[in-house]
Amino acid sequence: MCPGLLLFLLLAALNSESTAKLPEDSTGTKFIAAFPENIAYYYPVQPENKIQITALYDNTNVTIQMHTFNPTTETMRAGQSKDFVLHSRMELRKSQISNKTLVITSNHNIIVRAISLKHNSVQSALLIPTDKLGKEYLIPPTPRIPGTTDQVTLDVTERSPFKLIIISAEQGTTVTIEGAKTENVQLESHQLTQIWINESDKLRAIKADQPVAVLFAHSCAIRSECTCGLLYTMLLPAKEEKSKFFIPPVLVRDVYAETFLLLSEKESTEIMAFNSTVPLVKTANSAILYRPGLLLTLIPETDFASCFFVSPVFTVETSAVIIVHKNFTDGVRIGNSPPMNPDWQELKDTMYVSTEIKLEQNKNFIWHTSSKMAVYIIEKNGSALFGNPAPIISTSPDFRGCAVTPEVVKIGEVAQGWRESLQYCKNMSLDLVSISDAQLGAQIYEKITQVKNNGVEEVWIGMRRSSLTGNWYWLNNSPVSETNWEGGEPSKDNGQCAIMSLKTGKNFGWSDEDCCKAAHPVCYKNVSIFSLCCENPTG
Ligand SMILES: *[C@@H]1O[C@H](CO)[C@@H](O)[C@H](O)[C@H]1NC(C)=O
Ligand SMILES: *[C@@H]1O[C@H](CO)[C@@H](O)[C@H](O)[C@H]1NC(C)=O
Ligand SMILES: *[C@@H]1O[C@H](CO)[C@@H](O)[C@H](O)[C@H]1NC(C)=O
Ligand SMILES: *[C@@H]1O[C@H](CO)[C@@H](O)[C@H](O)[C@H]1NC(C)=O
Ligand SMILES: *[C@@H]1O[C@H](CO)[C@@H](O)[C@H](O)[C@H]1NC(C)=O
Ligand SMILES: *[C@@H]1O[C@H](CO)[C@@H](O)[C@H](O)[C@H]1NC(C)=O
Ligand SMILES: *[C@@H]1O[C@H](CO)[C@@H](O)[C@H](O)[C@H]1NC(C)=O
Ligand SMILES: *[C@@H]1O[C@H](CO)[C@@H](O)[C@H](O)[C@H]1NC(C)=O
Repeated sequence: MCPGLLLFLLLAALNSESTAKLPEDSTGTKFIAAFPENIAYYYPVQPENKIQITALYDNTNVTIQMHTFNPTTETMRAGQSKDFVLHSRMELRKSQISNKTLVITSNHNIIVRAISLKHNSVQSALLIPTDKLGKEYLIPPTPRIPGTTDQVTLDVTERSPFKLIIISAEQGTTVTIEGAKTENVQLESHQLTQIWINESDKLRAIKADQPVAVLFAHSCAIRSECTCGLLYTMLLPAKEEKSKFFIPPVLVRDVYAETFLLLSEKESTEIMAFNSTVPLVKTANSAILYRPGLLLTLIPETDFASCFFVSPVFTVETSAVIIVHKNFTDGVRIGNSPPMNPDWQELKDTMYVSTEIKLEQNKNFIWHTSSKMAVYIIEKNGSALFGNPAPIISTSPDFRGCAVTPEVVKIGEVAQGWRESLQYCKNMSLDLVSISDAQLGAQIYEKITQVKNNGVEEVWIGMRRSSLTGNWYWLNNSPVSETNWEGGEPSKDNGQCAIMSLKTGKNFGWSDEDCCKAAHPVCYKNVSIFSLCCENPTG
């Protein structure tokens, strides 16, 4: 024990944890979904709707409850991804209120993608976990589609209006659909309502007293040459801050396909013809890209992340479209390797570049060693084009891989001796940090810079000298090979513990120090890295 230590107790300001302000990932333990009518109820082919579930942890028990059918339960392993084919009667028909919802629950975080498939009409959506759903949504403007939206009638599916499918999550709720005239709908829990969007109603917003999920869909929008297909996307909850949305050229490269952006802000909506020389839009709320056959919710810059999971619906023609800052293209990884010969294209007048990467293997994860990026999955099947933002596994970059549970770097709030500092970290199930190589050091120093409180100039790290041999050792038993001693250090006779400087210009250099000195600790917990498992085919 270090005598008189309490005298040195110092309280530093909070916000000392590096995992504090991260954007949302796509993982959760409860999801709700519904499957809009695809093509037309009279089209003589059974729909094949499915959900694709990816587990991030071992012993993940997943339960799928389809409306009145018996629930299915399955135990999944970390890194396992599986398609669950649903009962064909889950497809919605014309009724307004319906109980045909799907509830997916699990004991650990999972990722869920919904796929709606009928003959050549395919769409996919990334489901938002129920705890991240909202109570307010802004309704996007409907794109003009020749042959579909010019002579609207409910009698013919191809000419029916766009619709909203509003699903209640946990609890029953009153849903208010605001527009020229305001409509109220009462929903029980896990019930849905379909609202056909009549232009003359000028629908603007959906408000509910409990969280709801909202799909924006058309059952059979004309694609080309008198063929039609389902369009759908999940709306993101309303938000007021403006975000930047980057549109990669590959999403709009076919000359025949005119592309539009559907923008809905609180006060106004806009359908903007997309001009590829201006690949950036700034808008509040969200932005949806429309081109014949595809509705795609765009990823705002604030939701860029560091690891994504991509599992194709079909084995052919799946690609990942990646947007990354142009200084950081080297850090992109597909599985465990950099992409082969990526063709990075500049997004004019921005700091970003994008590329399309054809995915060879059956399943992939895409990650970045040090930065954040955006990834879309785009697939083609014959004339069907579909896609969605790739599910986010992690928002915290790590040079070692895709961080399912990110590393924790925390500067302790109390200055005390080395041994008490170690106990302090242990009390939070953390350890004093061991910085056993330069690459790990660089990542930890970067995080310390983000969370550091300027009053803290020196911090304890998990290294000390053996009293038996006099050799330095790391607490986690890593070999002491790459070190960052300051010039002339270690220098003291009685300096048995290693302290790190946070002063500007000192480059996080270490010195030996009297273990009783009062300093704040750097507490740490190692990352847990995602890896694929179970290479057996899905289904
Ligand atoms: C998960 O399911 C398995 C098999 O049904 C069961 O043995 C196990 O207890 C379940 N685990 C949890 C945490 O519910
Ligand atoms: C939905 O389920 C409720 C009971 O939970 C039932 O009262 C109602 O009739 C059902 N509605 C439809 C449209 O099937
Ligand atoms: C397109 O989808 C159908 C299923 O509807 C499938 O049988 C067919 O193989 C797919 N085509 C390609 C090229 O993947
Ligand atoms: C849209 O609303 C107008 C006016 O209320 C009505 O005359 C028209 O039939 C509606 N159209 C559809 C497709 O419901
Ligand atoms: C696209 O934007 C550029 C730059 O603002 C402008 O010069 C060009 O006329 C626009 N093209 C179209 C088709 O609007
Ligand atoms: C990107 O690189 C340029 C030129 O090397 C440099 O000036 C700029 O600061 C870098 N930006 C970032 C965010 O690293
Ligand atoms: C650790 O927790 C114990 C029990 O809660 C407490 O008595 C002790 O003071 C804590 N130690 C440090 C160093 O924070
Ligand atoms: C921390 O986790 C990484 C990635 O799983 C692993 O390579 C490394 O050995 C771990 N470090 C320690 C000290 O366990």
